[in-house]
Amino acid sequence: MSTISSASPVGINGIGRIGKLVTWVMSTKEDLKEIVISTGRKTGKSLDDLATYLSYDSTYGPYARFLFGFRKEKAVEIKNDELYLNGKRLIWLNDPKYRAPGAIPWSKYGVEVVFDTTGKMNDPTSNEENSLRGHLNNAKKVILTAPFKIKNKGTMVPEDSVTVVGGVNFDRYDPSVHKIISNASCTTNCCAPPIKALVEHFGDRFISYALTTVHAATNSQKVLDVLPKDGEKDCRKTRSIMNNIIPSTTGAANAVIEVIPEIRSLGIGSQASSLRVPTNTASIVILDISLMGEYDNSYIHSIFRKYSERNPEIMKFSEKQLVSSDIIGSTYSTVYDALFTHRRTTKRDDKLYTMVDLNFWYDNEFGYVGSLERLYNMVIGKH
Ligand SMILES: NC(=O)c1ccc[n+]([C@@H]2O[C@H](COP(=O)([O-])OP(=O)(O)OC[C@H]3O[C@@H](n4cnc5c(N)ncnc54)[C@H](OP(=O)(O)O)[C@@H]3O)[C@@H](O)[C@H]2O)c1
Repeated sequence: MSTISSASPVGINGIGRIGKLVTWVMSTKEDLKEIVISTGRKTGKSLDDLATYLSYDSTYGPYARFLFGFRKEKAVEIKNDELYLNGKRLIWLNDPKYRAPGAIPWSKYGVEVVFDTTGKMNDPTSNEENSLRGHLNNAKKVILTAPFKIKNKGTMVPEDSVTVVGGVNFDRYDPSVHKIISNASCTTNCCAPPIKALVEHFGDRFISYALTTVHAATNSQKVLDVLPKDGEKDCRKTRSIMNNIIPSTTGAANAVIEVIPEIRSLGIGSQASSLRVPTNTASIVILDISLMGEYDNSYIHSIFRKYSERNPEIMKFSEKQLVSSDIIGSTYSTVYDALFTHRRTTKRDDKLYTMVDLNFWYDNEFGYVGSLERLYNMVIGKH
């Protein structure tokens, strides 16, 4: 079995929204002395511009203030032409040849675990140098910050690759076998834990669920309307996020079944959809469930109270009247909004059925990075 040292520098490929926040969080890890980031391109005019990008954030505010409070000032420093975050040396690989993961010399810097946050390489079956698997030329493990997307439909996920979600199926990760680990999507990390709790509690009394994520904007969206590209299937994606609620797709229905296979074996019906809205981060899953039998709100609460007590880093049980900005900066995968829960019981053929509406909040950026940190801790054997 290959063991990973918590002191080995961590690698981060791509420093967009998720990559930048992973860099922030990794800079708080006590054992780490160095972080290696690969952008595969230069940025701005000097190292100062990278320092500025990492120092400030339009959503979370300044790096130092967000992570350490108001009094720490010199958290991002340039010394001898090198960048330091909270005293950790940041090694920046910006040669264009490093756009292909297979060419990135991770091992030269002692990197064992790499986060791929580019959103461009999601297929674990590809053996090309410019693919997710390319990272394994020079690193031991790759954590993908997205669901796998296999181009050739019908091809199985390779044996060394696995999708795991904290609080749901971390036990599927086998360190002696798995090298490519998908952390699924932010939406899956929000809805799979409560669905797992419901499946475990109700078993075949759980008839079906439908979930809708009302999701903040991401960089995949357009600021203003643009002309769709030749062959574009979803022309709503090219509409301005500043002015619209945009119906979209989500892979969460399939991903949840993948991490909770009992949904299929019990024949529980499921469906998922998504609406993109003009906020910078923080999203909500509205989960409608159908159950056989009669249950009141306090019965439902007790299921999530127990789950959150068993998984205190993953689910927060909230009895506050939250709105989305209250969730910004939350590291939980999912926040159960107990005050919102409402249900109705009906009778059919002398049998009782209850429909329940549930709300779960998540910071799609920082909450997801929280889930990545939990996964990283598991991979380095610290959990
Ligand atoms: N945002 C969210 O809420 C969220 C939540 C969970 C998961 N995710 C997933 O995380 C991934 C990243 O999302 P994001 O929101 O962070 O996207 P993003 O802000 O667009 O960041 C992606 C970054 O990757 C860089 N990149 C692309 N190809 C590269 C390459 N070959 N080598 C090095 N850097 C490269 C891009 O820079 P260039 O300009 O150089 O191309 C960009 O800075 C996606 O798969 C997304 O689905 C996002």
